Amino acid sequence: MNNMTTDRILRPAPSIDGSAIASQSVSIINRRQFMGYSLNAAGGVLAVSLGTLGFASILLPPGGGSGGDLQVKFWAKGREDEAWYGAQHLQAMTKSSFVEEAAKSNIGVSGAQGVWNGLPVNVTYVPHAENKDKAVSDNVPRFQFMEGYNLSGNYVGHFEDMTDAEPELFNPDENLIMVFSRCTHLCCIPGWQLVSNAFTDDNWTPGGGDGGGSKLFCICHSSRFDPTALEMNQNTNRSNGQQFQFAGIRRAGGPAPVGLPLIPIIMNGDYIEGATTHLDWLTYCD
Ligand code: FES
Repeated sequence: MNNMTTDRILRPAPSIDGSAIASQSVSIINRRQFMGYSLNAAGGVLAVSLGTLGFASILLPPGGGSGGDLQVKFWAKGREDEAWYGAQHLQAMTKSSFVEEAAKSNIGVSGAQGVWNGLPVNVTYVPHAENKDKAVSDNVPRFQFMEGYNLSGNYVGHFEDMTDAEPELFNPDENLIMVFSRCTHLCCIPGWQLVSNAFTDDNWTPGGGDGGGSKLFCICHSSRFDPTALEMNQNTNRSNGQQFQFAGIRRAGGPAPVGLPLIPIIMNGDYIEGATTHLDWLTYCD
């Protein structure tokens, strides 16, 4: 099927308070124009530059014959150059840098955009170990292990079903999570506090719903993802149409159908690296 001429309704970015965008004017663009938009305005320079590396690199395991690299690096071009990691563009991500930044947060959370083998990623630090035994009503962030339901409302499984089977997927004691930073709506690049609105505020509420801040926010059409709400879910390989189950973070709101998949973290001392064990989870975008 050739969908290159499919028209898409493109809404402007939400207002500063994150309020509904439905009342704002819309423009209609075709798929080619949309990709140009998402690579330039919405995704920022990150997507432009990564585009030159080629998202096809998803098919090439990092560290393999292509000269890839397991190490995750900060990405701080475009909107990101004013973020806390703005001076660390393409420098290796370290856990200690997240800990240092989290100390400036009301709730002890920090996040950053990164690049891993040419792919956009987001890493979030959550003070799980410190807060996991505190009352949920304290509203202090921790990772939440949840049930996941697919688009049809059918139960897919519990996050811990997957981590029981594959403990190397996620180590809650590290207080870190990394996800593939391409939106499950139309593949723009969600960011961490790159815009200011109610969804990105420096606060948190439990439950994986749309209330509270600390969400990854996709500026294209305002989808939100909660990096503390971990679940199993289901998505579709864009090339062959096959469905697959994945472990990831929960979609909190907006047009994105499901959440974002994990890239398992490997700690190499203080350095954050990504495992190549689940590249199939990243196949929902071209
Ligand atoms: S691409 Fe549309 S909300 Fe992310």
